Amino acid sequence: MSLLDDDTVSNSSDNTTFQEILHARFSRRTAMIGGLAAAATTFFAAGSVNALGAPAAAPAPTGRPGSGRTPLFSFTSIANDAGVMPTIAPEYQYDVLIPWWTRLDGGPDDFADHFEAAGLLKSASTIADEQTRRIGIGHDGMWYFGDERRGMLCINHEFGTNPHILRTTNPSSLDEVRIVQHAHGVSVVQIERTRSGWQVRNDRRNRRIHVNTPVTFSGPVAGSAPLQTPAANPPLGTLNNCANGYTPWGTYLTCEENFNGYFGRRSGGTNTEEQGRYGFSPGGFGYGWHLFDDRFDLSNAQYRNEENRFGWVVEIDPDRPNRPPVKRTALGRFKHEGATFVTGRGGRAVVYMGDDERFEYIYKFVSSGNWRSMQARGISPLDDGKLYVAKFNADGTGEWLELTRDNPALAARFATDAEMLTYTRIAGDLLGATKMDRPEWIAEGVDDEMFCTLTNNTRRSNPAGTPAGEVAANPLAPNPDGHIIRWVDADQHVGTTFVWDIFLISVDTEDGDGQMYGSPDGLWADSAGRVFIQTDGTQPVIELSGGVTVNANDQMLVADPVTEEVRRLLTGVRGCEVTGIAITPSQRVMFANLQHPGDGDPSLTSFPKPFDGTTIPRDATLVITRKDGGIVGS
Ligand code: FEO
Ligand code: CA
Ligand code: CA
Ligand code: CA
Repeated sequence: MSLLDDDTVSNSSDNTTFQEILHARFSRRTAMIGGLAAAATTFFAAGSVNALGAPAAAPAPTGRPGSGRTPLFSFTSIANDAGVMPTIAPEYQYDVLIPWWTRLDGGPDDFADHFEAAGLLKSASTIADEQTRRIGIGHDGMWYFGDERRGMLCINHEFGTNPHILRTTNPSSLDEVRIVQHAHGVSVVQIERTRSGWQVRNDRRNRRIHVNTPVTFSGPVAGSAPLQTPAANPPLGTLNNCANGYTPWGTYLTCEENFNGYFGRRSGGTNTEEQGRYGFSPGGFGYGWHLFDDRFDLSNAQYRNEENRFGWVVEIDPDRPNRPPVKRTALGRFKHEGATFVTGRGGRAVVYMGDDERFEYIYKFVSSGNWRSMQARGISPLDDGKLYVAKFNADGTGEWLELTRDNPALAARFATDAEMLTYTRIAGDLLGATKMDRPEWIAEGVDDEMFCTLTNNTRRSNPAGTPAGEVAANPLAPNPDGHIIRWVDADQHVGTTFVWDIFLISVDTEDGDGQMYGSPDGLWADSAGRVFIQTDGTQPVIELSGGVTVNANDQMLVADPVTEEVRRLLTGVRGCEVTGIAITPSQRVMFANLQHPGDGDPSLTSFPKPFDGTTIPRDATLVITRKDGGIVGS
């Protein structure tokens, strides 16, 4: 998220930072090969990194002319842009689907009857009720379960601010809080290709899951003390649903990220150690829910532990509308960005996950057995397995450290596995995990290669005593623009070691405008290995007519994992973030989201409507196709 990004640091452990690891690994290489940007373009493959971290011999880039390798893309890279509507490569076209407030029954758009820039047009209770049957706001991670003609789209609604939704900063009633709560969560909606483009189709499986929807818990923490509140209080809701995953058995994984920001303290008091580690604060992000809804009031003793019910990966079955969302506690509790499922050796379920906050960790879950045989025995593969946290070493290797109370340090801190998993971050501290630069999405490339965006970290600095010359040579400190790392696990994703390198640094890339993009966030790779990169943050400065300079809009790019060439496919609109990717099986129709266009300000953009300066902009999904019907990204 960008609008409510509060620059928090909750990790006060002494664990080594990724910056220190990078510094140790690359400082000698800097002098040798003329700069870290050059080091970062060194080809990386399992085993190519020697024990001293010296650069592997770079093979001839196989995607360049004359190499014999078919180029992964031929589309024209477009310029950065700062306009009121998206721009897309000339070989491509886009259409708009499911803006915020779209009816799940496929009925006509009546947004203008309910919302205008001056305020709400109907009673808050009416709008709150209607929002439970309409697409939410803050379109983010998503996945499409269907064919080329029709299917179920599961889409996250990460957040929408009070000014954007209510047109006022502070809610004045529980009904107003409910409007915002119902705009958060997930939509499950059938879409189909019609003569006039992709549209919602009224289907019995269409449903909204929001902050007050009944949910269940499963796995080691279910039914345990950390989830119990003194008040009779069945588990409800999911929120700040950021990125996602999907399983080979056809379910959707939605990930709860900045849940801390929705809680506050009506009557004072201070954080417990555990609340402090998760960054709770008296006013939260300013939503004000705690002033009207007891569940979100950390000072209400009757709702003690309510906050422990958020920060999980949640599994949703798009085909079974009566089945409640299931919070899979074996995957740990933190500010989950996404949950990237891969099938590991022996058919095991492996899920890679980032904790998106400055200096937080990267995790991996490995199921105890083959996922098919576990399901045949009536066990969810996501309920029984081992959780690991990543430690990066300066020699280009890394270790997955298991969260287990067989480890004396964890046994001394946690009385039960349920406590250990509820306070996953504290377990990571005790294990000596590496403090990363805001891990966001993780993508599976080809040949078991995994990619992860480290979006940026303006709180970072060079290690004490770093010579001035090395500071100047090192564009990774303080890493204002982000980078993308990659690694390969030993033993087809189930081992406890890996090798890693930098894939791309989000400055100094090669398209001639110096800085091509910043703050990489959304990430997905297709079956040919094309890496789609979506941005959320400060973009390059461009000059408009008349000499005015502005930051460009967020964007989507496509990278070749071998040549590391990057091309810009799409630019968003003013104030938006580009996030979320889903695709049809043929890879000829891609869905991607523009989140918080204009940050809700109608003077910046009216997207998806033509600009008029007064129409409230709305989050929406873009349907992206090649004009020649080819593979998206090619
Ligand atoms: Fe919801 Fe870290 O982006
Ligand atoms: Ca982000
Ligand atoms: Ca976001
Ligand atoms: Ca994100």
